[in-house]
Amino acid sequence: MKKIAHINKRIKNFNKKIYVPGDKSLSIRWILMASQAVGTSIAYNLLKSEDALSALNAIKKLGINYKINKKNCKIYGKGLNGFSFKNNTTIDAGNSGTLARLIFGLLVKSKNQIILKGDQSLSNRDFSRVIKPMRMFGQNIESKNQKLPIKIKGTNYPRPINYNETKGSAQVKSCILLAAMKTPGKTKIKSIPSRDHTEKLFKYLKLPIRISKEKKLDLISYKGVKNYKGFDYIIPGDISSSSFFIVLTILTKNSKILIKNVNVNKSRTGIIDILKMMKAKIILKNKKNYNGEDIADIFVESSNKLKSINCPLKMNSRSIDEFLLIFLVCATANGVSKFNKIGELRNKETDRLKFANNFLNKIGIRTKVTNNSFKIYGKPNLKLNKTYKVEKFDKDHRACMLSFIAALALGGKWIIHDIDSINTSFPNFIQLLKNLGAKIS
Ligand code: S3P
Repeated sequence: MKKIAHINKRIKNFNKKIYVPGDKSLSIRWILMASQAVGTSIAYNLLKSEDALSALNAIKKLGINYKINKKNCKIYGKGLNGFSFKNNTTIDAGNSGTLARLIFGLLVKSKNQIILKGDQSLSNRDFSRVIKPMRMFGQNIESKNQKLPIKIKGTNYPRPINYNETKGSAQVKSCILLAAMKTPGKTKIKSIPSRDHTEKLFKYLKLPIRISKEKKLDLISYKGVKNYKGFDYIIPGDISSSSFFIVLTILTKNSKILIKNVNVNKSRTGIIDILKMMKAKIILKNKKNYNGEDIADIFVESSNKLKSINCPLKMNSRSIDEFLLIFLVCATANGVSKFNKIGELRNKETDRLKFANNFLNKIGIRTKVTNNSFKIYGKPNLKLNKTYKVEKFDKDHRACMLSFIAALALGGKWIIHDIDSINTSFPNFIQLLKNLGAKIS
């Protein structure tokens, strides 16, 4: 059933402290890594969204048990060779690109065949990026047009690989690392920097990973096959989920917010640096390090003097999931904002560059878009008063949530379709908005 939200009023000013759910990237990685550990692992504050639940269902299909309740999640791992499943077992990754791509790595040695499928949006996405390196390991993969559904069968004798990762994709890098974990010999990756949660988790588990820099690239190597014990982990709040509230606060007059316990891993905080360059007021407080990941409280105040940005290329991977929100801020900034080499946005849950272009045009913002770049002609003090319908976004959770933020910050009458898509990453998003005073029906 299609669920629709109506918003007819801007949000009034607020001053609140909130917690956002656990980080999605870390939750999925914890589930996959715990499934390979020897013995029980426990996670606190695991994200309970559809993507995370798809990951739990996936390990269950592979013969690994788990228990989840309000307090925590327990996974009963059986070590690196612990999967057991029947030939032609189907795994449904739902909407999760991260799960679908990372699981190839874990199946590098699987004796039986897996049929990997996903929802309509995931079935339109490209898998050549993981098929190529996984075939180099020796995995057997059958696919039509490099898209889901894909048949995957492992090899008894995986070969270590040397791989140049040129997309800046953490999913590709992590898929290779998970395969390396089960492959004798030394696997080497030369990679454009991208989020490094997998590397940090490997280090926390004292696995044989080495990382160095060569010019602007990361050189990552993994040597040998080493089992590890079950481990406990507290998942910090998700910076990508926090970003919706950061932007809402910046764009709402006389407002303040404190977002507690958020993962502020440098490979994820591009949005904070970009917004600060645009003169937004954001402060990180109570910084600490927990199990290798940086955590902080994020304090944000509204800003009325935002200036445009010529976005440095090094920000692209660090803010890959936040561009829709950044573009919205640019729409209200003084001057022309420019983004280059952002073609990867066309390969997300929906073509986010196309969506952003249509969205900004719809709210009266001039843009120039090419295959790989975007220019936004900002209108300071932008206020909306027409009716806006948001319905074609391939159920992309972030496109849907962006529409809520635009409606609440800028005004107008909004009809937002497919709001169930939000459950992919942030099930209590609407409730949190209501707690700040938003009127949503
Ligand atoms: C993710 C990596 C990014 C990001 C996705 C989550 C991850 O994708 O967009 O939401 O957890 O590794 P790419 O690796 O395709 O850039």
